[in-house]
Amino acid sequence: MNAPAPPVGLLAELTHRCPLGCPYCSNPLELEGREAEMSTEEWRRTFTEAAALGVMQVHLSGGEPAARRDLVDLVAHCAAAGLYTNLITSGIGLTAERIAALSAAGLDHVQLSIQDSDEESADRIAGYRGAAARKREVAAEVVRAGLPLTVNAVIHRANIGRAGALLEQAIAWGARRVEIAHAQYYGWARRNRAALMPSRAEAIRAIAEIEALKAAHAGTIVVDHVIPDYHATYPKACMGGWGRRLINVTPTGRVLPCHAAETIPGLDVWSVREHGLGEVWASSPAFVAFRGTDWMVEPCRSCSRKGVDFGGCRCQALALTGDARNADPVCHLSPFHGQVDAVVLAETGSVVPDYAYRSLRLKD
Ligand code: SF4
Ligand code: FES
Repeated sequence: MNAPAPPVGLLAELTHRCPLGCPYCSNPLELEGREAEMSTEEWRRTFTEAAALGVMQVHLSGGEPAARRDLVDLVAHCAAAGLYTNLITSGIGLTAERIAALSAAGLDHVQLSIQDSDEESADRIAGYRGAAARKREVAAEVVRAGLPLTVNAVIHRANIGRAGALLEQAIAWGARRVEIAHAQYYGWARRNRAALMPSRAEAIRAIAEIEALKAAHAGTIVVDHVIPDYHATYPKACMGGWGRRLINVTPTGRVLPCHAAETIPGLDVWSVREHGLGEVWASSPAFVAFRGTDWMVEPCRSCSRKGVDFGGCRCQALALTGDARNADPVCHLSPFHGQVDAVVLAETGSVVPDYAYRSLRLKD
């Protein structure tokens, strides 16, 4: 295989520690604890190598990246290396002073997550009393600091009736971009699937509402609307295609083609603690495993869309069919497509289970 084109973006999971306990968390079941996290110097070296490799954007994520005391230092290092920096945050742990320091260090953009437009419901979803009010303050502080703000909301059973209100709230807070993403059922979210999954009728109503608002606000605000997987006809090109555009580095330095890749058994994952990032991108068995289209089986192998969606999501194919090489069963051409409908029917009953909250709190 020819050398791959350089990746566009790097998602740096600086820590898995987080003050919130969201039931739809896409991080893996086994979280990496503070004692094993990469040091400031290790992250600096990773970012330097990313810039040399051709990466343009670094997304500083977690867990909650503000839990890292060296966050300002890491942003300054990325900026000096010429990398565009996006902070993906719950807002908890960000004070006005810290936001100002991040801005002065060269931070380019803030992406703030919200859970609901109803504050009581938002706090219940986050498993953290007072989170919604704090996020409102953080949004105002980010805008005051002159940083571009994206508000991100994950839509699921508890908030799907307020999808439009969520979007309106983000606009009122001064967001320049809103990302409305329907829950994806990987990692911890898989455990809460029955508590999170909306019915098909609810999903269709919410999609129509968001699309109408998107059209109404066109030209004033960018609305990215990620249509819910389980109700789609074709899958999305997950991660823009495996090993094509994005690199994910975990808190301990393991380098993944996607954040849920470690759910796939037998993947040989390399670490930046032992290999250069460029070497990982070009040759790591985990990246090579599903890069391109040679690995595909039917129906993807002979499908005209295989260069468009790359067979969808490997992790979802594994979760629902038992084999990561299969077409994402969200695709209506997949012989396993009936399983998606069965899951939707089975898990959108009238009895809603309690959430299993995440917990790798800041003290851990
Ligand atoms: Fe995509 Fe495979 Fe479905 Fe074709 S058969 S649309 S490549 S998932
Ligand atoms: Fe892993 Fe889609 S989440 S490929």
